[in-house]
Amino acid sequence: MADLTKTEAWAALTAHEKTLSRMHIRDLFAADPRRLDWSITEAAGLTLDISKNRITGETLKLLVDLANARDVAGWRGRMAAGESVNTSEGRAALHMALRGTCGRDADLGAGPVGPTVKEALKRFLDFARGVHDGSITGPSGKRFETVIHIGIGGSDLGPRLVADALRAHNKNGISVRFVANIDASELLHALEGTDPETTLFVVASKTFTTQETIENAKSARTWLEAVLPKADVPAHFAGVTANTDAARVFGIADAQIFPFWDWVGGRFSVWSSVGLSLALAIGADGFEDFLAGAAQMDEHFCTAPFEQNMPVLLALVGLWNRNFLECSAHAVLPYDHGLSLLPSYLQQLEMESNGKSVQRDGAPVDAPTSPAVWGVAGTTGQHAFYQWLHQGTDIASSDVILPLKPHHHLTGHHDILTAHAIAQAEALAFGRNAEETKVELAAEGLSGAQIQNLLRHRTFPGNRPVSVLTMERLTPKTLGALLALYEHKVFTQGILWNINSFDQWGVELGKTVAGRALEALVGEGRLEGFDASTRRLIEAARIARSSKPSGT
Ligand code: F6P
Repeated sequence: MADLTKTEAWAALTAHEKTLSRMHIRDLFAADPRRLDWSITEAAGLTLDISKNRITGETLKLLVDLANARDVAGWRGRMAAGESVNTSEGRAALHMALRGTCGRDADLGAGPVGPTVKEALKRFLDFARGVHDGSITGPSGKRFETVIHIGIGGSDLGPRLVADALRAHNKNGISVRFVANIDASELLHALEGTDPETTLFVVASKTFTTQETIENAKSARTWLEAVLPKADVPAHFAGVTANTDAARVFGIADAQIFPFWDWVGGRFSVWSSVGLSLALAIGADGFEDFLAGAAQMDEHFCTAPFEQNMPVLLALVGLWNRNFLECSAHAVLPYDHGLSLLPSYLQQLEMESNGKSVQRDGAPVDAPTSPAVWGVAGTTGQHAFYQWLHQGTDIASSDVILPLKPHHHLTGHHDILTAHAIAQAEALAFGRNAEETKVELAAEGLSGAQIQNLLRHRTFPGNRPVSVLTMERLTPKTLGALLALYEHKVFTQGILWNINSFDQWGVELGKTVAGRALEALVGEGRLEGFDASTRRLIEAARIARSSKPSGT
């Protein structure tokens, strides 16, 4: 594939950007009274408004030309057909098939994946139903009251986010907790107040070799073994993995091992049996609704023309902000406390997928790829980093995400929350110019001299690009659609940049060095291979671990 910046579509965008560079989002609104006609899209219960970006109808047209030039539709088809779009690992990426949509007919050698997916889904949802109705218990016959999900990265963030966001849908009385960190504090915290007899551990790991997950699972096993007869312990574990042999070796019974496959990327796996803990939290029916919402978004992504294709538009606007406006940071600003974990989820989805410097064939990329993605739920984040967003020297793009109706009865709170979301989107895009600021300060009773002193501090440049996503309510369906939307955005951007969004070699080096460091810390490992700074750290850690623990 030709380098992105060598394409005609790129050249056209570059020329076009020059014509826009002096225009403020305010000017763009003033110049086009029909702006909302082309900048609002609806799909799968979500509404996307891209009008508060520094774009015009012409920008969008040129961006769509770029999507066509990069053959986004062709790659989408290849992904759905089960081709090895994960080129560096020689794997397909069939997460859409998990929702029963595009990709379900793909045949990777053993017949279409659709029926295999259905069977696996039925098995883990039946298990969840059995735990809920008490037909599946520990050997003592007591119902499970606590589920502790052990996993990390893609085997953690999805079910953790969705279970948290849909807490109101947990009608089963089961407390579902999550443990990812190798820092035992998280496991110990999750174990607090739990009873081994009524606790089920779900160990989720695609490889079943991830150090953090396996160490946490072993400690969980030791915790159970301290109280329960050894023979009873396996019944307190379920395993979710593409490496069923390793789960068996760990001691999990076949009936409680739920498979998924190498063609499901970790960060695209919440729809697979990795979602078992989620089904245990929101119920099997809730989980099916979650899949149905994603399926609606898939159908839309696979069929809608690019001009009205929500994931494609989000991807194109993201590329415009990143490559033409040089936004190296992107803020995820959910105005729903339940979506507090969404920024972390999207951090992995976007940054692990598209934080790459080489193209599929190994050539260096010729345009910057994923921005840094971060965020905090509103309004909490407003009191932390919004100062930087509004008046900092760098310009970040943002997504404001707002469910219009609350899932609680304190509607007054929701009105205030909604007003803040609307206000922030407006303030970021439009700012407050000197004239408006003067009026505002005069209304506050400030003198002419005081106004002059404060004017520069109290004006807001605005012109910060913001996309606004709304939905009527946060439900399993709309959340499914929301996560699928971002998956397709990430895929589309990967195609535009010609990078492989499905590998993550960048996390490997740290793992290798950690292995050597652990060996040097606790084993016979030598210090020689390390630099002076690292040697000093290892020595300090050696001294700390050989001295008696203090306090607790
Ligand atoms: O962070 C690296 C990574 O490989 C992720 O891609 C993955 O989601 C995570 O580790 C966990 O891997 P596993 O599911 O194999 O334990």
